[in-house]
Amino acid sequence: MKTIMEIKNISKTYKNGNVEVKALQHIDMALKQRELVAVLGRSGSGKSTLLSIMGGLLDPSEGDVVLNGKSIFFYSENVRTALRRKEIGFVFQAYHLIPVLTVEENIALPQIGEDKQYVNELLKVLELNDRRKHFPNELSGGQQQRVAIARALINHPKIVLADEPTGNLDSRSEKNVMDVFRILVEKYGTTILLITHNENLTKMCDRVFYLEDGRLI
Ligand SMILES: Nc1ncnc2c1ncn2[C@@H]1O[C@H](COP(=O)(O)OP(=O)(O)OP(=O)(O)O)[C@@H](O)[C@H]1O
Ligand SMILES: [Mg+2]
Repeated sequence: MKTIMEIKNISKTYKNGNVEVKALQHIDMALKQRELVAVLGRSGSGKSTLLSIMGGLLDPSEGDVVLNGKSIFFYSENVRTALRRKEIGFVFQAYHLIPVLTVEENIALPQIGEDKQYVNELLKVLELNDRRKHFPNELSGGQQQRVAIARALINHPKIVLADEPTGNLDSRSEKNVMDVFRILVEKYGTTILLITHNENLTKMCDRVFYLEDGRLI
């Protein structure tokens, strides 16, 4: 399968006054099309830092991220934002849904152009069809996370970056989200990077990277 994203010798050092935290050190990684990859590591091991850099939300201290053959740090902030919106989908532990918008409005919010059919398809795949007119506060945690996942997919991103997406869910909803990820990989050929500290989830992934104190082991 084609390589979709390459992480090349990424290091990140946070500097606060005269305190330095080496959050990431010399990370190399390649993600292929159509795979579900987990990054496993303890709290503080650098997982969220890595995801933020992969998504172009945070500048590395050293190294590069190549998406579809192009360095994402090469672009200006404006171009990077547009790229992010189109090519990369983000899912976080907190769902960040807009409370005054319905399920279908939340999903369609970041959509570039209009494609009602795709909104309907996502509602169906994520089993939210009968909740489309509901508001976020009328949904369970698992349902809210599925809305957030649908929203992340609305512009057909090549890659979805998910930071502890099941962190607030019970084991049944967690399994449901993992099943949905698998369907997305198979049905749309999406690449999903899942960050977790839950070893159980990695069993449902194609590959696992282990992060320890900012290094891959
Ligand atoms: N803005 C920041 N300034 C200084 N240090 C930071 C900053 N953000 C993160 N760190 C430090 O970098 C290290 C990696 O943090 P990161 O958030 O990437 O860990 P994580 O693996 O996502 O942890 P968790 O599982 O708790 O979410 C930690 O030691 C953290 O304290
Ligand atoms: Mg984190």
